[in-house]
Amino acid sequence: MHTTRRTILTGVGAGLAATALPRGSAAQGAAPGAAMGTLVRKPIPSSGEMIPVIGLGSARRYEEVKPGEDVAPLRDTFRRFHALGGTVVDTAPSYGQAEAIMGGLMDDLKIRPSLFVCTKVGVDNIEQGRAQIDASFKALRTDRIDLLAVHNLRDITNELAYLRELKQAGRIRYLGATTSFDRQYEAFEAMMRREQLDSIQIDYALDNRNAAERIIPLAKERGMAVFINLPFGRGSVFRATQGKPLPEWAAEIDVTSWAQFMLKYLVSHEGVTCAVPGMAQARYVDDNLRAAQGRMPDAAMRRRMEQYVDGL
Ligand SMILES: NC(=O)c1ccc[n+]([C@@H]2O[C@H](COP(=O)([O-])OP(=O)(O)OC[C@H]3O[C@@H](n4cnc5c(N)ncnc54)[C@H](OP(=O)(O)O)[C@@H]3O)[C@@H](O)[C@H]2O)c1
Repeated sequence: MHTTRRTILTGVGAGLAATALPRGSAAQGAAPGAAMGTLVRKPIPSSGEMIPVIGLGSARRYEEVKPGEDVAPLRDTFRRFHALGGTVVDTAPSYGQAEAIMGGLMDDLKIRPSLFVCTKVGVDNIEQGRAQIDASFKALRTDRIDLLAVHNLRDITNELAYLRELKQAGRIRYLGATTSFDRQYEAFEAMMRREQLDSIQIDYALDNRNAAERIIPLAKERGMAVFINLPFGRGSVFRATQGKPLPEWAAEIDVTSWAQFMLKYLVSHEGVTCAVPGMAQARYVDDNLRAAQGRMPDAAMRRRMEQYVDGL
């Protein structure tokens, strides 16, 4: 009975819906014996548009790429992500060459139309904001950005006003704001109460759960989609679980790796829409997109996952 209840996507999983038809299949190059099923999706509250609960983050590994360096592993990562039905890709002008690399990969692979492209603006005044956003359109080689968010609250009021103009003009589809710093939470929360946003992006991980106290519930109350950055705490959760086997009960939620364990915990929160783990390897895509499949943890299972990680 206990297990059966977890198999049903209700409760904390309310709002989860397995409706997307993945483009991927074994015939399209899935890992041996690892045909992917349907990806779980959730709605963006302001439109009802459904997006897969796992996306791709492009900080660090993409920003570290040197001019002229071989981007074949990143191309494989993007190809695989697209083949398995992934759509949400997250970048920022502050991630070095990441936007330009993403723009190049989307062009090469001809996959721009099916992706949900998120980038940010992070500057000190509106002139700089306009220039940075113009540069993002060029680097991403697109005439429409799906989600543009103000990075780390910088010049937030002015930038949001400009983003509203861009949305009105159809150049962007959604707008939002991001942070990954606890010290900004108070100001971030005040901003969320003041501004009408389609989305927020916030840091949340099994070993970093502060955002679940006030920010994520407030986003739900205010009808904002919630994107999760740093879902692995930049790898801290892997360091904590290194060499440790998964608990047997992880099988009850179809989890076969620590990455899936961490991600399923996040995306089963009723206020969370999509987590964007940093992925620069195709094998990470195979692993992480499995967190958008199968049974999801219910409230009791989520508590058990927290206790397990807290006890490590
Ligand atoms: N304020 C903001 O707006 C803000 C701030 C921070 C981040 N972000 C966004 O959030 C995204 C995620 O953050 P992040 O990339 O810094 O950190 P993260 O997602 O917490 O951790 C990423 C790292 O985890 C490892 N990893 C990923 N999948 C794995 C798997 N299946 N198995 C084992 N290891 C795995 C990779 O390490 P290795 O590559 O070392 O192997 C990867 O670099 C960023 O890419 C960015 O898009 C936004």
